[in-house]
Amino acid sequence: MSSSLSGTAAVVSGASSGIGRAIAVGLAESGLARLIVHFRKNSEGAEETAEMARSHGCETTTLTGDLSIAADREHLCREAFSRLGVIHTWIHNAGADVLTGDAAGESFEQKLDRLWQVDVRGTILLAREVAIEMRRKATPLPPSMIFIGWDQACEGMEGDAGMMFGSTKASIMAFASSFAQTLAPQIRVNTIAPGWIQTSWGTETSGYWDRRARQQSLMNRWGTPQDVARAAVYLADPQNSFLTGQTIAVNGGWNRRGEERADD
Ligand SMILES: NC(=O)c1ccc[n+]([C@@H]2O[C@H](COP(=O)([O-])OP(=O)(O)OC[C@H]3O[C@@H](n4cnc5c(N)ncnc54)[C@H](OP(=O)(O)O)[C@@H]3O)[C@@H](O)[C@H]2O)c1
Repeated sequence: MSSSLSGTAAVVSGASSGIGRAIAVGLAESGLARLIVHFRKNSEGAEETAEMARSHGCETTTLTGDLSIAADREHLCREAFSRLGVIHTWIHNAGADVLTGDAAGESFEQKLDRLWQVDVRGTILLAREVAIEMRRKATPLPPSMIFIGWDQACEGMEGDAGMMFGSTKASIMAFASSFAQTLAPQIRVNTIAPGWIQTSWGTETSGYWDRRARQQSLMNRWGTPQDVARAAVYLADPQNSFLTGQTIAVNGGWNRRGEERADD
């Protein structure tokens, strides 16, 4: 990946696995100088991500915090700025996992509460604190924040997953649009809306969802965390200083042709 990230510093929230890890490593590969890998409880995963980033010459430390807890958000923000000084990019990637592990067995209401507390409320309140600090530190080109939405959030998908991820991810996408309007021209704000990305749920899912994920992408495959990371590197690049208020769907292009393909 080629970009102008050299000499810059970033925080990636939720970087102990999946998409967050790929973004952290993608930024490091692209010349990022200093990085904070945020995690909640998977310290081993966070350290693995940090090692991967260090192997690309990026000075990396880890920092824990639960985004649903105010004291943790305050600590994360304060400690990140104290360690890095200036932060050029903050990627708000952390999201509650309600599909695998213990949470998978919870009720719709419990899952919705988790998503709301972490992906929406916690992320919004943290981002507002980060913006205050970013505005205090001068950078030659505007620093940026990147949010993670979902490509189907506003279009709709049937079932509980569609209703809970749709309502929460559409909320954070809407917040990011207003945040971009609020913070310009000092801070750029963009959103990535991933489609079917093969992280932990995608590797264990049924044949039905596997086929459906492939069919719904014009590229006829699952997306990878690295596909999302490439978009994040592009949006984070300070040279792309005319890019704000945008949402990029990283979904291989939505297949409006149904199951029929030209080569079928
Ligand atoms: N995978 C997809 O197809 C897809 C599609 C659209 C959007 N997304 C979004 O992309 C983001 C990353 O997804 P992923 O699939 O890579 O998920 P993942 O592997 O489960 O990673 C989620 C990350 O968020 C952290 N996290 C979870 N709860 C937290 C909390 N309460 N406070 C702070 N951090 C917390 C986790 O930390 P610990 O593990 O250390 O606790 C982990 O680092 C999420 O926002 C997700 O909604 C994913």
